[in-house]
Amino acid sequence: MVFISLFCLCCVFFLALHHSFTLFASGRGKVIGRKWADAKNAKEVLALVQAEGWASSVVHAKADQKHVNAPCFYQGNCSLHGENLLGRCFCFPGWTGEQCEVDERQSTPVCTNRGDTCFYTDEAGVFAISLERWHVAQEAELVTWDNWDPVASGGDRINDHLLGFDLYREVGEIGANLGNFLEVGCGPWTQSVTMMKTRAFDVEKYVLLEPGALNYAANTKDTVYASGQIDGFDGKTVVVNAGGEHLDLFLEVFDTIMMVNVLEHTNNAISILRGLYNALKPGGLLIMNERWLDTFDPPEELDLNALYHPIRMKQTVFDHFISVGFDIIRDCRTAECHNADIVKNYGTSTYFIGRKKESCA
Ligand SMILES: C[S@@+](CC[C@H](N)C(=O)[O-])C[C@H]1O[C@@H](n2cnc3c(N)ncnc32)[C@H](O)[C@@H]1O
Ligand SMILES: *[C@@H]1O[C@H](CO)[C@@H](O)[C@H](O)[C@H]1NC(C)=O
Repeated sequence: MVFISLFCLCCVFFLALHHSFTLFASGRGKVIGRKWADAKNAKEVLALVQAEGWASSVVHAKADQKHVNAPCFYQGNCSLHGENLLGRCFCFPGWTGEQCEVDERQSTPVCTNRGDTCFYTDEAGVFAISLERWHVAQEAELVTWDNWDPVASGGDRINDHLLGFDLYREVGEIGANLGNFLEVGCGPWTQSVTMMKTRAFDVEKYVLLEPGALNYAANTKDTVYASGQIDGFDGKTVVVNAGGEHLDLFLEVFDTIMMVNVLEHTNNAISILRGLYNALKPGGLLIMNERWLDTFDPPEELDLNALYHPIRMKQTVFDHFISVGFDIIRDCRTAECHNADIVKNYGTSTYFIGRKKESCA
């Protein structure tokens, strides 16, 4: 059993992982985001949300927002009032300036009982929320999957993503070895297992970073890593029960990273993008799908889309990220890489494959 809860980990393990991927087995840990652990199903969680609304408060930035081996990027912490993404500060609401040093909070935007207005910024949309707010969304997410039937659905939109990534052809030749591989926010069924099978890829290490992992393994049907290993990758699988905001545990260790339909569910999307960049080796490959929300309507009624998707980030953030940090291999945002139902119900998203630039100069 190679389940790793962040709460069970010690620094020794992290250091080991940086250098050699030594594994550390542990038992079940506490699962993040079980605020309403007594609720039995999605309906009950929704009823609780309806009754209580969602709490919101301050967003916290990390002091260490450095970019490893990238001296040409701004290395500071955006005065702790924003997030540094490859040299540019995206400021939290009410802050402005190159390094978010200017306080303009005269009229602090408010969050309503069920709206996220206090987290909204004109520049980047909602890119970071409070931990409490994330817990509410995450709770709804987990109970939804616990009640899901993957046999009927084949996982979470697997076929949509096969289409969007053109069967993952540009990731590598059939049978290629993807090296140290990470999937972030992989859910119970992952997208990477399908990719590996479709292209007969091999890996050195197969790491999953998912804050709901322990819950999925215990409660969700047909979770592909329920035994702690992925079928066909025994001895190579490592499952880490933590959010992508903890990516800073990994510095330039992965050859390939995948993340599909995750950012809009997270606590701090820009810190995750920064973490992805730092976790990749120079020349490493990023495989990513997300949608961007350039409009933001504060909901007046309980808005399920907003409940499940607290982050609603603008495309300009991603454009900055890939243009500065990556050599682009695939960037498809049009109807041609989406099925018609998805376009109708959710709009289009970005199917991106890129190689981290060797240097940023
Ligand atoms: C819509 S599901 C997609 C799952 C998977 N990527 C797939 O496509 O099958 C979103 C996933 O993001 C995870 N998630 C939520 N917050 C996260 C965070 N801060 N970091 C990483 N993953 C997160 C959720 O637990 C959930 O499993
Ligand atoms: C981060 O920001 C704080 C507050 O502005 C400042 O005191 C600190 O020196 C900064 N640290 C770094 C590494 O830039």
